[in-house]
Amino acid sequence: MKFFVDTADTGEIKTLAASGLLDGVTTNPSLVAKAGKPFFDILEIICKLVDGPVSAEVAATDFNGMMKEAERLIAIADNIAIKVPMTEDGLLACRSLSGRGVMVNVTLCFSSAQALLAAKAGAAFVSPFVGRLDDIAHDGMALIADIRKIFDNYPVLTTEILVASVRHPMHVVEAARLGADVCTIPPAVIRKLIRHPLTDKGLAAFVEDWRKTGQSIV
Ligand code: E4P
Repeated sequence: MKFFVDTADTGEIKTLAASGLLDGVTTNPSLVAKAGKPFFDILEIICKLVDGPVSAEVAATDFNGMMKEAERLIAIADNIAIKVPMTEDGLLACRSLSGRGVMVNVTLCFSSAQALLAAKAGAAFVSPFVGRLDDIAHDGMALIADIRKIFDNYPVLTTEILVASVRHPMHVVEAARLGADVCTIPPAVIRKLIRHPLTDKGLAAFVEDWRKTGQSIV
C-alpha cells in the first residue's frame, strides 16, 4: 500500500520525505488555510520534495471554473493530481482532465456508488473519507471493503482506492488488510505508526546495558 501524507505543512513533508516513506501528498482547502501560506508556493515546494502524486484541490464548484483552475494547477509540475469534488460537475471535469492524461483525485466520496462513478469517469484516485463516516456512526472501513470488492469485479477499472480522513493507526492497518491502494495519513498518525512501548522499553534496556560494557563503537 502506498503512503501519502495528508498535509500542506511543507516542513512536515520535508522531514517525512527524507525517510523515504512518502509515495505522494494530499492537500485540501482546509489544510492550506491551516498552513497559512500561498497555495501556489506550497504546491511548488511540495512537488520538488516528493516525486509521487501531489493532490491540489480546485476551489470552484462549477465545471468551467474547475477546468480554469485545473489549467493553472497542472502547470505547476508534472506530478500534480487535480482534486475535484464528487459532484456532477466534478465528474465532468474528471472525465475531461483524465482524457488528456491528467491525474484526477475525486474527493469527498462517501458511498460505493460514488466510487464506481468516479472510476467510470476515469479518476486516477477516488478518496473515500473513512474518519468522517466513523464520526457519524457509519463504518468507514466497511466502505473500503465494498469498493475493493466492486473494483476487483471489473479489472478494466484502474482507479486507485485512496483511503482518506484517516484518524488513527488502525485505519492504516485495516486499509492495508483490505487491499486499499493508497492511504493518505496525517503526519501525527504516521509518527504513531512508528512508536511501540516495547520498542521504547527494549531500546532503553539496550542503551543501559551497552553503557555498562564501557565500550564505544566509534
Ligand atoms: C483527503 O484527501 C482529505 O484531505 C482528508 O483526508 C480529509 O480528512 P479530514 O476528515 O480529517 O478533514
